[in-house]
Amino acid sequence: MTDIDQASDWLYNAKKVLIFTGAGVSAESGIPTFRDQGGLWAGFSAADLASLTGFDKDPCQVWAWYEMRRQRVRQAEPNAAHRAVATYAKERPGVSVITQNVDDLHQRAAVAAGDDDPTIISYHGSLFRMRCRRCSLPGDMPHVIDTTSRDTLPTCRQCGKFMRPDITWFGEAIHRKVADDSDQLSSRADVCLVIGTSLEVYPAAFIPKQVLAHGGHVIEINPEPETFAHPEVVQLRGTACEFVPDVLRDTRYARVAP
Ligand code: OAD
Repeated sequence: MTDIDQASDWLYNAKKVLIFTGAGVSAESGIPTFRDQGGLWAGFSAADLASLTGFDKDPCQVWAWYEMRRQRVRQAEPNAAHRAVATYAKERPGVSVITQNVDDLHQRAAVAAGDDDPTIISYHGSLFRMRCRRCSLPGDMPHVIDTTSRDTLPTCRQCGKFMRPDITWFGEAIHRKVADDSDQLSSRADVCLVIGTSLEVYPAAFIPKQVLAHGGHVIEINPEPETFAHPEVVQLRGTACEFVPDVLRDTRYARVAP
């Protein structure tokens, strides 16, 4: 059996499918990844831009970086892989999506596919949400944030402190509900389709491992030879747009009712 036949067979026979994505799924929409050559962490310091210490030291610099990324994502469109995931999740019961990405491309693809209530967990938060740095009160994100001085940054309407991006930074815990929901999904999934992640960041990287630990299978789509050698992992070497539409189109209908 070829790898692609094996992947299709697992998907076809699964009751619950978990799709777990990283920056690579958005690469073909023009959004840079983090750890590839020329990726975001090649030009920027994670300690300065993705930590509370970095934010407290220079909130203008941190907001400017997230603003740059937010405007870039706004100009991007979901690609064939996002669209295929959205159609699959809409048509086939028992499918959920966990993304490490803070862009909104899975969500936009779901809306375009006519899915009003998609199960998409944004594991690391969102570029399109903010909350108070001190009291955590969420706030409405302005269309543009003026990052030229501390005086123009958004502040909390309750306590007056700076708002911050609602993104989980290094050294911070994943939101409780997100962690609990993700745990449930990964302990129940028969198949985890892992698309475009280096699996270098924890606890996110535990998700496919948890599926394996519960007796499920993992299919990985990535142009690079990554991850874990395991008999229950099939690796499809190629980009998200090369593989995801084909793999999901052929297994749109499950053999077993969920
Ligand atoms: P990385 O930049 O670490 O990894 C991107 C992965 O995508 C690599 O394995 C690439 O080989 C793969 N890739 C590149 N182009 C691709 C394509 N066209 N199709 C499929 N795969 C492709 O990004 P993540 O694994 O998502 O955290 O990084 C995890 C976390 O690290 C991010 O969520 C972010 C970062 O710090 C936060 O923002 C909190």
